[in-house]
Amino acid sequence: MTTFQAPKGTYDLIPPDSAKYLAVREAIAAPLRNSGYGYIETPGFENVELFARGVGESTDIVTKEMYAFETKGGDRLALRPEGTASVLRAALEANLHKSGNLPVKLWYSGSYYRYERPQKGRYRHFSQVGAEAIGAEDPALDAELIILADQAYRSLGLSDFRILLNSLGDKECRPVYRDALQGFLRGLDLDEDTRRRVDINPLRVLDDKRDSVQKQLVGAPLLRDYLCDGCKAYHEEVRELLTAAGVVFEDDEKLVRGLDYYTRTTFEFVHDGLGSQSAVGGGGRYDGLSEMIGGPALPSVGWALGVDRTVLALEAEGIELELPASTSVFAVPLGEEARRVLFGVVTRLRKAGVAADFSYGGKGLKGAMKSANRSGARYTVVAGERDLADGVVQLKDMESGEQAPVALDAVVEEIRAKLG
Ligand code: HAM
Repeated sequence: MTTFQAPKGTYDLIPPDSAKYLAVREAIAAPLRNSGYGYIETPGFENVELFARGVGESTDIVTKEMYAFETKGGDRLALRPEGTASVLRAALEANLHKSGNLPVKLWYSGSYYRYERPQKGRYRHFSQVGAEAIGAEDPALDAELIILADQAYRSLGLSDFRILLNSLGDKECRPVYRDALQGFLRGLDLDEDTRRRVDINPLRVLDDKRDSVQKQLVGAPLLRDYLCDGCKAYHEEVRELLTAAGVVFEDDEKLVRGLDYYTRTTFEFVHDGLGSQSAVGGGGRYDGLSEMIGGPALPSVGWALGVDRTVLALEAEGIELELPASTSVFAVPLGEEARRVLFGVVTRLRKAGVAADFSYGGKGLKGAMKSANRSGARYTVVAGERDLADGVVQLKDMESGEQAPVALDAVVEEIRAKLG
């Protein structure tokens, strides 16, 4: 029999490390919950057309990285490579935008799939926590989202990250810039693939990591010089709100992002301890996406933070999250009668909100105490026949090693009091 392994580019989250992932998701979600964002969950797959139209026909995500397939029923679906198109699709389908209460603010957490070349920080299955604010054009909303992401990272203790900020213009000024850029790029010495990119998505060429390309880009027209007055004023307001909030950012004219739906504000959070996969999160405004997928005009803004890379960033900064021990009390029964009684104690502890576990499988005292140690429990409750005859259990403080008898019917209260 062959044994199976996790598919290439994926990995399993297993205890104790998995607790870190939960804590990271929680830390990212907390500021969102606190700021009027409601939780949304959408399917892991969608009609493939949604991403082709939403994310963009010419993007790497759609052309190379999507897990697209045809079902037995003949539907063309794709595992979701990102969350924004799905969330907007769901909001439109549920008519959330017609509730008269815009923006619709939503947050989500889940698995995403991209058929990428795996390396550290880049996986084929990864997880994001994201937020979308749908249906309002207000620089304060862009600023709010960036501030909340900053707050989430700081609450985890991260400090070695930078916020890159740019404006991609709107449907008035970007086409003018695009033409100018195309004119410039067509005069360069580029390979065939890149020349094709110049035709389809010239802004992406600015993002090319190769030195040979970057060298030629010196003197390329800058979007900054083409922004219309409306976009300029909007961007300036976002910048001022961020500065007033004490959020430090860097202007990065070359920040383009790998998805086609962005307009105006775009940003990326990069961590300096992560090597080549340094983007821990990113987002921006997508004022045209709703119309691209058949909805009404709904200017919107959002971001998604990568959970996997955030965990790597914590490791890079040597941050150990203070995770509460998963078990506070471990029960060790000696004998049949004690097994029944202590199982009852554990059940009562759990009902009282105390995290408790039990020595299963009829282990002897030595083995059971080993399990108690491993569980990280602060207290162990041990009982044998003689204890039960006396109406007590032994309560052992695992930190001090001290042990004392406690009346059986008082043990739950006693432990609760001790744990504070
Ligand atoms: P994105 O920049 O493609 O944006 O992804 C956001 C984050 O997801 C990245 O910064 C990274 O941390 C993580 N990520 C992406 N791909 C991988 C991968 N292969 N392995 C590990 N982590 C990965 C979006 O997805 C947009 N939907 C963000 C957004 C929301 N824009 C507006 N609203």
